[in-house]
Amino acid sequence: MSCLHYQGSELYIEDVSLNEVASQYGTPCYVYSHAAIKTNWQAINQAFSSFPHKICYAVKANSNLHVLNLLAELGSGFDIVSAGELARVIKAGGDAKQVVFSGVGKRRDEIEYAIKHQVGCFDVESASEINRLSDINEHLNTNINIALRINPNIDARTHTYISTGLDRNKFGIPLNEVLDLAKMIKANPKLKLIGIASHIGSQITELKPFLLALDKLLIIYKNLLELGIEINHINIGGGLGISYSTETPPTIIEYAQAIKAKLKDYPLTLILEPGRYIVANAGVLLTRVEYLKHANHKNFAIVDAGMNDLIRPALYQAFQPILPITLKQGSPKSYDIAGPVCESADFLGIDRELVLHEGDLLAIDKTGAYGFSMSSNYNTRCRAAEVLIEGSKTKLIRRRETLDELFAAENL
Ligand code: LLP
Repeated sequence: MSCLHYQGSELYIEDVSLNEVASQYGTPCYVYSHAAIKTNWQAINQAFSSFPHKICYAVKANSNLHVLNLLAELGSGFDIVSAGELARVIKAGGDAKQVVFSGVGKRRDEIEYAIKHQVGCFDVESASEINRLSDINEHLNTNINIALRINPNIDARTHTYISTGLDRNKFGIPLNEVLDLAKMIKANPKLKLIGIASHIGSQITELKPFLLALDKLLIIYKNLLELGIEINHINIGGGLGISYSTETPPTIIEYAQAIKAKLKDYPLTLILEPGRYIVANAGVLLTRVEYLKHANHKNFAIVDAGMNDLIRPALYQAFQPILPITLKQGSPKSYDIAGPVCESADFLGIDRELVLHEGDLLAIDKTGAYGFSMSSNYNTRCRAAEVLIEGSKTKLIRRRETLDELFAAENL
């Protein structure tokens, strides 16, 4: 559900005109729909309602405190990959006990911080990490819940940069090492193995890779039982894709049915870590056309948002829909929509058919996930404002950064 629609010739999110948002808060500006985030989270919860499950939203997709707060109020758990993300969850009112700490490179101080806040589960990725946890725990004297993140060597058939479940990827424990690591945990009375996990990639548009990975996890589950180790959850990660253009990912109902069918005879809780599915289509990036340039064989619309604001097109050649905020009459031309950053990779869309004038506003759609959260200050550009819309209410949930804020850390 997107909550983005034209009313007459003007683009709205819920009951608010994006023209008004741009004049009030300026551009570039991320705008999110409260209703869309809520509806997406509830759709997952509903689809899995007949099986014991827990949704741990992947904070990295959009980590604004107001977004996390909205999800915490719905009862969501969280998947984090750093102490910083845990601090955000706590600040936003989330429950650390409902947190899965994922990530391939947890530092000692991050582990200490997470133990102190009693995170629900550490998803470990190597023998060295187990040793580190056990070592830290010696001094802290608590019990730690652990899940083994397994690399099932399954091709998620997505962009190589966001595929994580193949042997050549740095993530997870190779299948042939899993049982040894389980024994290692079992031998330590202060570590408790409570689950197994896999996350094979992101923007996955087919069911099959998820099901193949789940099959591998279920084999491990049985092997663990044979060793006398009984776990209580399986975590299938996130990764369910959305349609940015012509992709046809499984619906949440199809995804849930297929997974529940495989799990129906197992006394397990299912953990899900969706990120993109919950927030991607709940957000747009508003940007203004600064200049139209007509070069040889190419028309460029130079806009005020760049790859520092939204890196997905530059990094993954990702397609994001681009819509005019006000529909205008005229014959469309093909434009490359490019930002002001001094890199030729700084584009937001290639060959888009649009009727454009200088000063027009555009919405880069489906940018609620991995948009702001991947933004940077490259070219000393202040990060964009973020606005949350709920019905007819508009709330500035992150003000535009200022240069003083950027310089403060450099202390000159
Ligand atoms: N769980 C783990 C352990 C993850 O590493 C990720 C994402 C998720 C869950 C959430 O996956 P999702 O449901 O959002 O697909 N920046 C890339 C996506 C990177 C995803 C990294 N891991 C992009 O813009 O496409």
